[in-house]
Parts: sequence; C-alpha cells; structure tokens
Amino acid sequence: MTSLRRGTRPRAKAGPAVLRRLARRLGTPLLVVDCGTIREQYRALSAALPGVELYYALKPLPSAPVVATLRDLGAGFDVATTGEIDLVRSQGVAPTRCIHTHPIKRNADIAAALRFGIRCFVADNPDELRKFEAHRRRAQLLLRVSFRNPAAVVDLSRKFGCEPAAVRPMLEIARSLGIRVRGLSFHVGSQVADPTRYVEAIDACRELILQARADGHDLDTLDIGGGFPIPYGGKLQPIRQFCAPIRRELRGLPAGVRVIAEPGRFIAGPAGTCVAAVTGRAQREGRWWYYLDDGLYGSFGGQLFDHALYPVDALDRTGARHPCVLAGPTCDSIDVIREDIPLPELQIGDLVVGRMMGAYTAASATDFNFIPRARIVAVNQRARRRHAD
Ligand SMILES: Cc1ncc(COP(=O)(O)O)c(C=O)c1O
Repeated sequence: MTSLRRGTRPRAKAGPAVLRRLARRLGTPLLVVDCGTIREQYRALSAALPGVELYYALKPLPSAPVVATLRDLGAGFDVATTGEIDLVRSQGVAPTRCIHTHPIKRNADIAAALRFGIRCFVADNPDELRKFEAHRRRAQLLLRVSFRNPAAVVDLSRKFGCEPAAVRPMLEIARSLGIRVRGLSFHVGSQVADPTRYVEAIDACRELILQARADGHDLDTLDIGGGFPIPYGGKLQPIRQFCAPIRRELRGLPAGVRVIAEPGRFIAGPAGTCVAAVTGRAQREGRWWYYLDDGLYGSFGGQLFDHALYPVDALDRTGARHPCVLAGPTCDSIDVIREDIPLPELQIGDLVVGRMMGAYTAASATDFNFIPRARIVAVNQRARRRHAD
C-alpha cells in the first residue's frame, strides 16, 4: 500500500449552502457524501492505530467516489461479495490491496474473488475450510473467532465466528488439507462504545497465536475487524482516546504479527448527509405531520436495520419548535422517521437534513412503492494541494 499523500488539506465541508445548492440543482432526496470527511476519518483512525493496516469495509457505503478517495490514500479494501469486488475493480484497486471477509461464501464467489486476484479469505467452520481445498495453492485464510458482545449496538459475533476452543482443531483440519492459515480475525460488533471487548479479544488471540505457533502453525496476521464508533447524538470519546487501550494491548502481540482492521462505519458514517424535502403536511391529533421524500424504506432504513438514530433538523427554518412527526413517502404506516421531534413549523418544499448518515443508510435503501431512493452525490472528491508544497 502507498503511504498517505502529504501536502493536502480538506476543502470546506458540505455545509448548508452546498446542500441547498445541490438540492436546487439535482432535486431530492440526496445523500451528499463529503470525500473530505472520508479522508479525515481515515487519517484519524490511522493515527489512532499506528502500524495497523486499514481495509475499508465496503458494506456501509459501497460507493465509487469513496473507494477512489481511499484508494488514493493507500487504503486496503475489505470486500464480502462479488458486487463489491466489481466496484473496487472498476476503481482500479489492485487485488493485492483487498481481503475477502465473508465467512460463508458460495463457490462461485470464491472463484470470482480468485479470478480478480484476491488471495486472503476468511473461514469460521470446517465446511468452509474444505471449500478451499481445491484452491490451496492460491488462497490463504484467516480463521474468524467469535467474541460475543451484547454491549455493541450490532453484535456481529452471533452469526459468525467459531469458539476460541475450535481454532486448534480447525488449524489441524487446514493442515491436513494443505491449506495455509495466515492468522485470526474477529469483529467485536458494530458501533462499540467501549474498547474493552477489543482488548479481551486481542488478549485471547495472542494466546491462540502462541498456542498455534507451538503446534507448528506459522500464524502471522491478526485482523481486529471494524466496529469503531461515531457520535450519532450522545458524547463519545475521541477515537485516539478510544483506541488507547487497543494500542497498548497490540504491543503485547508476539513478534512478527501483522495487524489489520476493517473499519466501515467510522470512515463512512460522518461523511454522509441526507437531504430530503417536505412533500406534504397535515395536522393530526394536534401535531404537524411532515411527509418527506425519503424515509424508512430509503436512507432512514438504518434506523431499523442498524438501530441508529440520526441527528435530523430543518435546514433553513428557525423559530419556535414544537413536537411534530416526520414521515417517509411510502403508503406504509411503519414508514415514520421520528415521532415528537421538536422542529420549527415547516412548509412544503422545505429541506430537512439528516447528519451522520453515510453508513448503512443508502446501502440498504429500497425502491419500495416505486419511490426512488436517494441519489448519492459526492463532493470534495479531490484533495486540494497546498500551494507551497
Ligand atoms: C466482516 C466485517 N468487517 C467489517 C465490518 C464493518 O464494521 P463497522 O462498520 O462496524 O466498522 C463489518 C460489518 O458488518 C463486517 O461484517
């Protein structure tokens, strides 16, 4: 991977004037992605985890300008599907900068990834290991270990990952099949508020790696997953502080272990702003209901799938605020974005913005009711160079 590009500074953020202008020019709904923020988030996490190679997980925001921005910063990419491979390929990303981390893959997906040139895959059970027997000369594996984390907003160790005690037998199966296992991976959950679970998982993996080495397996990689949190509303410690115990724990890993991570939300979330328009309004039971052209079946679906609650506000109106209801555009009654949100009185055509909406929003939006999903618009795609450099 190339090093961070020096001598660049971010352009102005996608502020209200930019959002207004884009909505006027392109219509709504929009998801405005600020590539300057993508760069800032990537750099902040790189600085908080020195020596850890970052592979952007495409799931939360599989968008070409985001991939191009991170490609230019020297990032790696964590892909989980053939569609994601097609996206990174379209942006000229070398396969050597990609890892495939879906623990359960169809043979066709493995073949497509190998054809592209990806060599590093994840498995978490003996049947998945066996899928690689035919590819043992080209593919290398990370074994995904489960560390349950009920405290995470999304516990990603329920559906995937083997028990730590299953690592040793799986390494033996891999050896008997002639498959090279490079190391271990885990994902302690998404939007993790407390770094303790990372520390515990790293500690457990250290023991597993030592044991494996003693058994003659040359493990040299630890993948600490994603999960790094962003502030949707409440206060969060800065990422450098959040990562301090993780940095400390990583120092205790055996020599020769390369550490990688797969951040998604931390990089994409703060970069995305949803811009929707009020298409109608009605007084019901003493409150204003405002109907927007984006909703739960669109960008706000993350409120259901991802349990996120985005900071939402009127873009332009000021004045006294009263509790009102923000509803989405479909005919479905579940399509309500927020009950009792205090907003100034809105008019038809007013713009409403949702902040911190880059991750797990547009990525899972639908066209239910034939209502088009938000158009993704990237701004600040090019980092401005300092004149003096
Ligand atoms: C394997 C894997 N890696 C990385 C991520 C990204 O996680 P996050 O967005 O919490 O950083 C996910 C999210 O589902 C995942 O499943």
